[in-house]
Amino acid sequence: MKSIREHISAKLFLSYLAVLIVGAAVLLFAVIFTAPGAYDRHMQMAQGLTNSTGTPVPFPGMMDMGRGRGLGQGAGFVNFRDGVLESLGYAVIAAVLVAVAVSILFSRNIVAPLQAMMSASQRISDGSYGERVAVNGSDELAQLAVRFNRMAERLEQTESMRLQLLGDVSHELRTPLTVIGGFMEGLTDGVLPATPETYEQVRMEAGRLSRLVDDLQELSRVESHAYRLEIHAVALAGLVETVTKRLAHQYAEKKVELTLTGGSAEIPFADLPLVLADEDRIIQVLMNLMANALAYTPTGGEVVVSAVRIGKEVQISVTDNGTGIPVESLPHIFDRFYRVDKSRSRAAGGGSGIGLTIARAFVNAHGGRIWVESAGEGTGSTFSFTLPVVK
Ligand SMILES: Nc1ncnc2c1ncn2[C@@H]1O[C@H](COP(=O)(O)OP(=O)(O)O)[C@@H](O)[C@H]1O
Ligand SMILES: [Mg+2]
Repeated sequence: MKSIREHISAKLFLSYLAVLIVGAAVLLFAVIFTAPGAYDRHMQMAQGLTNSTGTPVPFPGMMDMGRGRGLGQGAGFVNFRDGVLESLGYAVIAAVLVAVAVSILFSRNIVAPLQAMMSASQRISDGSYGERVAVNGSDELAQLAVRFNRMAERLEQTESMRLQLLGDVSHELRTPLTVIGGFMEGLTDGVLPATPETYEQVRMEAGRLSRLVDDLQELSRVESHAYRLEIHAVALAGLVETVTKRLAHQYAEKKVELTLTGGSAEIPFADLPLVLADEDRIIQVLMNLMANALAYTPTGGEVVVSAVRIGKEVQISVTDNGTGIPVESLPHIFDRFYRVDKSRSRAAGGGSGIGLTIARAFVNAHGGRIWVESAGEGTGSTFSFTLPVVK
């Protein structure tokens, strides 16, 4: 019973069968009801032809047919045949009408959901992304409806993301452009002195703009999956060393101490298992986390990078004792363009809030997870992510 409800082929077969049975039944009943009358009428007509005096002539029964008695062989057969044909004629008409009615009923049932999807898809392509179709039953059409609705939902999400992105990007572009415009206006009016410092400010804003454009390009590549991961067995020690070297100067300049701890060996991370990773992407993730830790930690603070093996994964953590993150911001910290405090992030030399979004996309693409912990503002924060261990 279940498989009938779930398969349209079974439903179609059953509806053909039903039409056939109903048609045959109608045919049978129609013949049963109309045959005697039709037969009588034909016999009477035949009688009228052969007996002009009006005296009743006994009907030749079925058994008599063809035996050469009564009205004779030819006449009896012709009358019988005409009677049967007449009754069959009515019966066929009735059966066809009923079969057509039943088929229309069945095919409506099957075609109606398709028509609903057709008109919904038309409305979606016209731009109303909120369209959904009703899901009835559990056959292939119902499954199609479920998938159709899922697709519509994805389209709706994509569309709202697109609008959101457009809004965010124009907002992000506005700030540096306004600053540059303001400086130029001040210079033109002679309100601002034409000193190297002023030009440096303009250059910094232009730099911010071009970094934003780079970030956006990277984000669009990452979000559209237009990149390929080159996964190899990688030693974490090497990656951390690369990033540490690149950032050492900035850490020293801000006087933030950077400590590496991981594994039990003398050289940090040396005895950790190899991980499956795309070296460049994980360097980028580490760069983002360690640059953030530096940006949001005041002079005299400390940043610790650590790693441990937990089951089939290695967990890497970047902990700082800097500004921390308010509890209400924790769920949004990986959202694109999200910054706890825009002006503070700007002053701290932060970017546009895309760094963590990209980091999360890369870690997820490796099959890992990334998350943040912070006890609140002023308490520092810990960003951790996992990578799969080589089997
Ligand atoms: N280590 C950290 N300590 C405190 N806040 C942080 C830290 N890392 C990230 N954040 C917060 O998360 C936001 C998003 O980070 P990110 O995506 O790297 O953007 P950006 O660094 O460009 O501002 C930052 O603006 C900041 O508010
Ligand atoms: Mg950042």
